[in-house]
Amino acid sequence: MNNSIKSFISLVNILVLLEIATADPRTHTVQVTCGNQLEHNTTVYVPNFVATMANISQQMTASGFGVAVTGTGPDINYGLAQCYGDLSLQDCVLCYAEARTVLPKCYPYNGGRIFLDGCFMRSENYSFFEEFRGPNDTAVCGNTTRKSSLFQESARQAVMTIVQSAPSNRGYARTQMGVSGSMNETVYVLSDCWRSLNETSCRQCLENASESVLGCLPWSEGRALNTGCFMRYSDTDFLNKKLGSGSSRGTIIMIVVSVVSSLLVLLVGGVVGFYIWKHRYIQKKRRGSNDAEKMAKILNDSSLNFKYSTIEKATESFGDANKLGQGGFGTVYKGVLPDGREIAVKRLFFNNRHRAADFYNEINIISSVEHKNLVRLLGCSCSGPESLLVYEYLANKSLDRFIFDEQRGKTLNWEKRYEIITGTAEGLVYLHNNSKTRIIHRDIKASNILLDSRLRAKIADFGLARSFEEDKSHISTAIAGTLGYMAPEYLAHGQLTEKADVYSFGVLIMEIITGRQNNRSKSAEYSDSLVIITWRHFQAGTVEELYDPNLMLQNDTSDNVKDEILRVVQIGLLCTQEIPTLRPTMLKALQMLTKEGNLPAPSNPPFIDEKTMELNDAYDNPCHPLNADGSSSVASVSHSSFYPR
Ligand SMILES: *[C@@H]1O[C@H](CO)[C@@H](O)[C@H](O)[C@H]1NC(C)=O
Ligand SMILES: *[C@@H]1O[C@H](CO)[C@@H](O)[C@H](O)[C@H]1NC(C)=O
Ligand SMILES: *[C@@H]1O[C@H](CO)[C@@H](O)[C@H](O)[C@H]1NC(C)=O
Ligand SMILES: *[C@@H]1O[C@H](CO)[C@@H](O)[C@H](O)[C@H]1NC(C)=O
Ligand SMILES: *[C@@H]1O[C@H](CO)[C@@H](O)[C@H](O)[C@H]1NC(C)=O
Ligand SMILES: *[C@@H]1O[C@H](CO)[C@@H](O)[C@H](O)[C@H]1NC(C)=O
Ligand SMILES: *[C@@H]1O[C@H](CO)[C@@H](O)[C@H](O)[C@H]1NC(C)=O
Ligand SMILES: *[C@@H]1O[C@H](CO)[C@@H](O)[C@H](O)[C@H]1NC(C)=O
Repeated sequence: MNNSIKSFISLVNILVLLEIATADPRTHTVQVTCGNQLEHNTTVYVPNFVATMANISQQMTASGFGVAVTGTGPDINYGLAQCYGDLSLQDCVLCYAEARTVLPKCYPYNGGRIFLDGCFMRSENYSFFEEFRGPNDTAVCGNTTRKSSLFQESARQAVMTIVQSAPSNRGYARTQMGVSGSMNETVYVLSDCWRSLNETSCRQCLENASESVLGCLPWSEGRALNTGCFMRYSDTDFLNKKLGSGSSRGTIIMIVVSVVSSLLVLLVGGVVGFYIWKHRYIQKKRRGSNDAEKMAKILNDSSLNFKYSTIEKATESFGDANKLGQGGFGTVYKGVLPDGREIAVKRLFFNNRHRAADFYNEINIISSVEHKNLVRLLGCSCSGPESLLVYEYLANKSLDRFIFDEQRGKTLNWEKRYEIITGTAEGLVYLHNNSKTRIIHRDIKASNILLDSRLRAKIADFGLARSFEEDKSHISTAIAGTLGYMAPEYLAHGQLTEKADVYSFGVLIMEIITGRQNNRSKSAEYSDSLVIITWRHFQAGTVEELYDPNLMLQNDTSDNVKDEILRVVQIGLLCTQEIPTLRPTMLKALQMLTKEGNLPAPSNPPFIDEKTMELNDAYDNPCHPLNADGSSSVASVSHSSFYPR
């Protein structure tokens, strides 16, 4: 009888297994540990690192494990990644995508490892493939529930079973063990050694891991994060149920509830109860993992998704000859798709997005934003080895190449420049008033205004700033290049409204009219900011002196045109007023640009302290608001004292 009960319970478990057709990619990060050696030479290190990631990516897709070595010398890059044996290859790709977007957080340190709930990854400048123990081996315990001694006993047993069986199976084993004497409790255990280890090393790793993970008892959850292996026990079922590639490789050890009871009725009642409880639990869980699976499917099927290999080919493997420039968020390459379409590919090296799916979601939003004055985002490669954005290619590149260049500047007469100014305004109005998602650009500047073949303005990089909010180092680089355009309240207090874009737009107007850059401070022939200079000349009635000679205004240029330029300068000053509420909205600014009518007199732009503030000092000074996390620390600092010229 005991046997038939056992097979009945097995059947229940099989039903449970079949029931869950969906999977959880387990992309939760458990721990990231960075080394303490700085990379030697960035221009060598970064491409090596990226190449290692790309190489591993292909292996992961095929087998859930990958090692690669790229380069020579001190910046040589060794990489290893592995998904734990129960993960499906599809989930593995998602987990790896997460790992490889988070691990670069260690940069500029040249080593680091990341443990996620579904996979592991490590990168160093030496061969660590055979290492299986180290000083940082540790256990991370969950503290939510204190478990009974019965549970603890079962957990010990299950972990010991794993340590016995796993080493001969490359370290991979999973088990679920019913807690004896308890109808509704089960212990779930998973282990895996990195496949680069031999059986002896793996066993030693698992023995150490098992001891440290059991140190988590009586808590309901423990994970051992060792140099050569991973082990986890839990009272909740985290194991992947998909009977896919994982199970063919590994052994599913099913230890069935052994109940000490002689009352069949009670037992069957209990089992049914167990089944119903489990069933409910699974249904709850399915909803969550459905999203993950849906996202994975969307990622793969969507027309927005470009295959990494397609883009690699299109850009001739990101060859130097195809490099268009370094943008705020990455390097941009020109590419040609198989169908002949020209594209611009932005390669985002170090982005710390939480996960590929989130990133994709945002791309989805941004790509639905369409307007004649916005650069079209065609899609991305979001789940590949690195994050790539694919844009339409614009032959004339960016506005700064024209207005700040004596020769190319001649191509843009006043009429063209006026058209660029109003086009930019229209694009911004569209972003600010977009019904789906209100988008504040945050980084309006000449190099972000691209020009199409007929020299019409198209705004680039909109919507991206939001994606990079958490990545501080990245944002500060972006800010560094853009200081001259930043509204004082945003710079000082991080206060972000549409009026920050209005301010940047005002600066842009002045640059377009004068051909001078606002943020050139040292080597420039003038020492005040362009905004202040314009303001002073405007008050003195001498703005004309500032006009770019390339506007090619003759002495006989009609007064109409001169009035028009002066009017646009005044709109620029209205947009750069110190007090945000006084600045017009973009819609109002556009109306001022395109319609007649009196303009209000502008009030002063941000006050500027006489002592020039070196930009680098601002970044090195931990008290500087740009480096502060919260806004409280900046309250007492007058923003006028550090507003750069
Ligand atoms: C151990 O961790 C510390 C802190 O994260 C780190 O500085 C150190 O380099 C690590 N040691 C090894 C051998 O990885
Ligand atoms: C870094 O490496 C590049 C390529 O080998 C070389 O051109 C450059 O001079 C190196 N930089 C430093 C600081 O050594
Ligand atoms: C990946 O790296 C291995 C060794 O590190 C090398 O043999 C293999 O050719 C690489 N594969 C690709 C696609 O670069
Ligand atoms: C690893 O990088 C560090 C720092 O750049 C360097 O000192 C060390 O020699 C490198 N190790 C190897 C094995 O190249
Ligand atoms: C296993 O690997 C370790 C570390 O590389 C090595 O010291 C040991 O001799 C190997 N054992 C066997 C049986 O190959
Ligand atoms: C215990 O867990 C809670 C959330 O589950 C967490 O906020 C808290 O920091 C944890 N405490 C310890 C000591 O780990
Ligand atoms: C599990 O069973 C125990 C008694 O064996 C009971 O105290 C506990 O509340 C039950 N837990 C759940 C989640 O049903
Ligand atoms: C596991 O190995 C580490 C590093 O060798 C050591 O510090 C630790 O004491 C070991 N833990 C156990 C429980 O054996």
